[in-house]
Amino acid sequence: MIILKQPEEIEKIRTSNIIVAEILKELKEKIRPGITTLELNRYSEELAKKRGATPAFKGYRGYPFALCTSVNSEVVHGMPSNRVLKHGDIVSLDFGARYQGYYGDAAITLPVGDIAEEARLLLQTTEQSLYDGIHQARAGNRLGDISAAVQSRVEAAGFSVVRDFVGHGIGKNLHEEPQVPNYGVSGRGVELKSGMVLAIEPMVNAGTYKVRLLSDGWTVVTEDGQLSAHFEHTVAVTDEGPVILSLIRN
Ligand code: MF3
Ligand code: CO
Repeated sequence: MIILKQPEEIEKIRTSNIIVAEILKELKEKIRPGITTLELNRYSEELAKKRGATPAFKGYRGYPFALCTSVNSEVVHGMPSNRVLKHGDIVSLDFGARYQGYYGDAAITLPVGDIAEEARLLLQTTEQSLYDGIHQARAGNRLGDISAAVQSRVEAAGFSVVRDFVGHGIGKNLHEEPQVPNYGVSGRGVELKSGMVLAIEPMVNAGTYKVRLLSDGWTVVTEDGQLSAHFEHTVAVTDEGPVILSLIRN
């Protein structure tokens, strides 16, 4: 069942997502060659605590960290470690927070120092595909309109969309219905309604869409070892169109 949210609830979900966005912004400022992903995790926990928010991922299905840090060929759920980020790496930071009973969830992928042209294109395309998907998050459209918009942007650039992980509804739970795939056919799937809140999160590989799980039980990597990027926003479907809740307004 897809839970529709009242405007007051959407504002609460926005508050949680603004906390997430602010934390991602502060983490972004820390990214430089030499920092470890564990330091980023520690910092994310501190920042959440300072704001009175609870990291959403820690303890979720036994995940042991507050932050997911997926480097280079890691797709999602990369676990913070003593790994040192180096010049030319890309790193995805995925953070979730619970605040006053509602969840926020967002992710960005960042360059570490200067990166190769292909990596730059991968980041740009993945972020653009997220915005293409968001643009379709309108009442009267169908879920497949979001999925198809993401997929077509990605494939037009010669990259591929991960199939094994999807976006999701979000609210009083981190994961709610519906699942939001990043591939699909426009005009198909459930009808989008005002009050739906969706975490749209394209995971895009430079090579094959195929992924595998490392023996740590969490880290998902590309099967061919090529790069992968991930961007995520929490978005409300409203009578005024899509509203990105995980975006800091100035
Ligand atoms: N943004 C991801 C998701 O919505 C992160 C989940 S990490 C986990 O599924 F540890 F919580 F599983
Ligand atoms: Co998510």
